[in-house]
Amino acid sequence: MSFAKFMTKKPVALIQQESGQGELKRTLTAANLVSLGIGCIIGAGIFVMTGQAAAQYAGPAIILSFVLAGLCCAFAAMCYAELAAMLPVSGSAYSYAYASLGELLAWVMGWLLLLEYGVAASTVAVGWSGYVVSFLAGFGVHIPENLTTPTASMDHATQALVIGSSINLPALLGIVMMTMLLVLGVKESATVNNVIVFVKVAVVILFVAVGIFYVDPANWHPFIPPNTGVDGQYGWSGILRGASIVFFAYVGFEAVSTAAQEAKNPKRDVPIGILGSLFVCTALNMLVSLVLTGLVPFQTLNVPDPIAKAVDAIGLPWLAFLVKIGAIAGLSSVMMVLMYGQTRIFYTMARDGLLPAVFSRVHSRFKTPWVNTLVVGAVIGLVAATTPIDILGDLVSLGTLCAFAIICFSVLYLRRKEPNLPRPFTVPFSPAFPVLGILFCLYLIWALLSNPVTVRFYLFYLIAGLAIYFLYSQRHSRLRNGGEMMGELLEVQGEN
Ligand code: ALA
Repeated sequence: MSFAKFMTKKPVALIQQESGQGELKRTLTAANLVSLGIGCIIGAGIFVMTGQAAAQYAGPAIILSFVLAGLCCAFAAMCYAELAAMLPVSGSAYSYAYASLGELLAWVMGWLLLLEYGVAASTVAVGWSGYVVSFLAGFGVHIPENLTTPTASMDHATQALVIGSSINLPALLGIVMMTMLLVLGVKESATVNNVIVFVKVAVVILFVAVGIFYVDPANWHPFIPPNTGVDGQYGWSGILRGASIVFFAYVGFEAVSTAAQEAKNPKRDVPIGILGSLFVCTALNMLVSLVLTGLVPFQTLNVPDPIAKAVDAIGLPWLAFLVKIGAIAGLSSVMMVLMYGQTRIFYTMARDGLLPAVFSRVHSRFKTPWVNTLVVGAVIGLVAATTPIDILGDLVSLGTLCAFAIICFSVLYLRRKEPNLPRPFTVPFSPAFPVLGILFCLYLIWALLSNPVTVRFYLFYLIAGLAIYFLYSQRHSRLRNGGEMMGELLEVQGEN
């Protein structure tokens, strides 16, 4: 069997043709897509990880970490926008990789996206749980600790995983709720999403607008705390480590591309959705990090609900209450959009035969991939209930950075191989911008390699993915094994 078989590419014309053939309803407008993006971006990254990363790694210079991670995302977002406008289909990066780099890498991409969306949804559920527990405690309802902490934890001294007997029940319940909403349908879900996005953006703006008057500039000194002698603990290496963590706060703008098949005018609106939502959230992320580290000494921010704690500390319990509501609502929408993206990627992979057909079965009344959604919900609910947020966050960032690098590479590759394809949006200054995107991703990946648990798990995960591909997917691939898809392909080629 020659390796070339695994390089089989899905013709761009076929992918484009498929975008008009989906069974999913086309209901989403440009505004819905920007909202979908914001719904996905403002979440655990800003509400939880910014404070924790400032406390442990970067200090007030966490804003520089945001600049670094934001630049990486800006380059990747432009590449996403070019591909999404060219190939407006469900499945996002997975479909782009199928067209440009071949089936094996498309599978790897789909497998990485499972980390980006599925595991990210688990991560956000853990952050959500932290704010729910804190909110309930404000009303005197105290949930026993063994029902709010993950089963596994990381022993930082020995860098080993420790398994206990607790479970993060609120995180599990959050995922169950979102799964039910998604099974009911995208239109209903998009409406819920719009309301929630409004609430969380309003709370974030309120936090910045009120908090700025309580900032004590002494908390910003030293702005870059000196390195402690340990790599990644403050100093420049801390800023870099911080960037690899708060990178999570940007993850999500690409979820817009997974909704392309449900967008009314995908070629125009998907780039607007991707770049518009990233722009808004970059501004919010930076303002929040600046105000947060100005309110209290950064060392106090290593808690599950840092923003609420900081607001409490300056004596504004009413604002802390609103922050908790905004965080709970906000993180709910992130969970939902991430899960939505995950199910649509599986849907596309199943249509291509790389996953069992049951993942592409659409409910006759709700018009949603319901079995797929239930399976995804069960798995990520379990992960959320058992795994701590720092391990999950690092895994998501590692998987996402690899996916972003492949996306930037795909732009370069397709420009060379398919120079004449219509591109409603093009990355400016190519090849410089896509190449910078790749370099930024590699730089942040390097910072993540300092967590051995993440690296071990990640390697194991990739090997498991390849095993599934060779044992199942490549044997059932519709593209390589003839069948309906080849028939469609011949039709498309006949028309051209
Ligand atoms: N960016 C999203 C968050 O911060 C994933 O929760």
